[in-house]
Amino acid sequence: MKATDFAYLQEQAAHDPQIEEINEEAFGPGRYARAAYRIREGGGHERGLSFVALHGETVIGSVRMTRVAAGKGRALLLGPLAVRPEWKNIGVGRRLVAIALEAAAKAGAGAVVLVGDEPYYGPLGFQRVPRGQLSLPAPVDLNRLLAHEIKSGAVAALTGLLDHEKRARA
Ligand SMILES: CC(C)(COP(=O)(O)OP(=O)(O)OC[C@H]1O[C@@H](n2cnc3c(N)ncnc32)[C@H](O)[C@@H]1OP(=O)(O)O)[C@@H](O)C(=O)NCCC(=O)NCCS
Repeated sequence: MKATDFAYLQEQAAHDPQIEEINEEAFGPGRYARAAYRIREGGGHERGLSFVALHGETVIGSVRMTRVAAGKGRALLLGPLAVRPEWKNIGVGRRLVAIALEAAAKAGAGAVVLVGDEPYYGPLGFQRVPRGQLSLPAPVDLNRLLAHEIKSGAVAALTGLLDHEKRARA
């Protein structure tokens, strides 16, 4: 099968149990300690900008987006992104990222940030955030802090602690 053979839909609450399963499989129980999880637990993800890849009724891939803020800047945090092992390496992950970026742009977001592998996300339009510009609520390898700019200046506006938009405003 090819990545184009699956259906790509906005995430629904009914997908939650399967998404949990995929993320458990991909990241294991240690995922709750990761910086990106710590941010997301500050107010939850944005279901309208999160997507699943479906094979029939089965969720085979998922990408979530969360509203974040740092200093005067606002952005969307992409992740977790995960694809079921049996469907890896056929382009589903890339397609989910492309769909999420397109939705972010349509929603008026200035930037999308993530913590992930540059060799994977670089070709998808992400670049390292300059060291010292941002920190996260838990330790993170700053070489893995990447951003995709949609509106000029949106990444530079992100300064200081990156956190869930709801917690940053509180
Ligand atoms: C990373 C992941 C989402 C990629 O999804 P996928 O659907 O398999 O990816 P795609 O088919 O779009 O892309 C596959 C390509 O990316 C490469 N790739 C996959 N993971 C990579 C990584 N971490 N670093 C660099 N390249 C990577 C593959 O080798 C493959 O290369 P090729 O096209 O030259 O053969 C999936 O492997 C996964 O769920 N991994 C576990 C969870 C994870 O690490 N998520 C990302 C962290 S934020």
